[in-house]
Amino acid sequence: EKGTYPHFMLKEIDEQPLVMRKIIQAYQNADGDLEIDSDIKQAMSAADRIYIVACGTSYHAGLVGKQLIEKLAAIPVEVHLASEFGYNMPLLSEKPLFIFISQSGETADSRAVLVKVKEMGHRALTITNVPGSTLSRESDYTMLLHAGPEIAVASTKAYTAQIAVLAILASVTGAAKGITADLDLVKELGIAANAMETLCDAKEEFEQIAAEYLPAAINCFFIGRSIDHFVGLEGALKLKEISYIQAEGFAGGELKHGTIALIEEQTPVIALATQAGVNGSIRANVKEVAARGASTCIISMQGLETEGDRFVLPAVHELLTPLVSVIPLQLIAYYAALHRGCDVDKPRNLAKSVTVE
Ligand code: F6R
Repeated sequence: EKGTYPHFMLKEIDEQPLVMRKIIQAYQNADGDLEIDSDIKQAMSAADRIYIVACGTSYHAGLVGKQLIEKLAAIPVEVHLASEFGYNMPLLSEKPLFIFISQSGETADSRAVLVKVKEMGHRALTITNVPGSTLSRESDYTMLLHAGPEIAVASTKAYTAQIAVLAILASVTGAAKGITADLDLVKELGIAANAMETLCDAKEEFEQIAAEYLPAAINCFFIGRSIDHFVGLEGALKLKEISYIQAEGFAGGELKHGTIALIEEQTPVIALATQAGVNGSIRANVKEVAARGASTCIISMQGLETEGDRFVLPAVHELLTPLVSVIPLQLIAYYAALHRGCDVDKPRNLAKSVTVE
């Protein structure tokens, strides 16, 4: 039930801090340490390469998951769109492990790949919100998102839950492999949950950004570098699917190789700046588009902010920034759709669970 909320999407955005806390609890052992099924730990440690397969928002979470697994568990990761995997089957490593990420656990494109890789005799882990779902039943292992039912067609809390669970998977695997990381994940996820709450309490700020940048927009760009690029892809998908504004998530440095031709007077460009290593270079990209007339909106992270930034996110661990940076983008999409009179929870042409290939 939506309770006092006008839409499920807004309710589900607001539930994200609570979902973080539920996930921490669900994966904590009696000593308070994060723990996962020993079979999963073993399968991860034995893999020489991981293949993440997913669609849409879950694919975007997978792109972040690659960073987490490579950095915390030191296993190479490829991320694939399920709908493409069948035709362009990559050359597999000797000991592959497949990870399917699917909120519903019913997505036909992902299932088709699962069936194929099981036939080939490979192992698969499904990360899903729905216990007993098809992908969960047909995989060797399952990790649950504990996000509660997601009703709005546009996925929000499942995305952040997927990233948190991938972080736990990566961190516990890394520890099992004897890799020492300077990351206390229980603590850092707790900090992220608090930061997410702060953002959910600042909705008017994002309503204001939507009102300022998007009422007359025919298109919108979300730019970022590194992990911010992946969150930009998700921000663009959210905006497209519920407000019907043409949107593109783009790697900041790639704009000059063609796409910058689309920048006109007043084109909205929303830039994320949460990564210290690329803070200077993404800001240079913002200057490039601003010089061509774009209306730029920088969302940065505390510690990296510069005067003129439109919003400064509370600081969280560098690998966990998508948990917080996605919330403004979810809310901007929500309010842009609302202002345009769109059916936020049930956008046209879309179904919650895509059970056809
Ligand atoms: C976007 C959205 C979709 C799903 C995609 C995969 O907001 O919800 O892109 O993420 O259809 O669905 P699942 O995760 O259920 O496999």
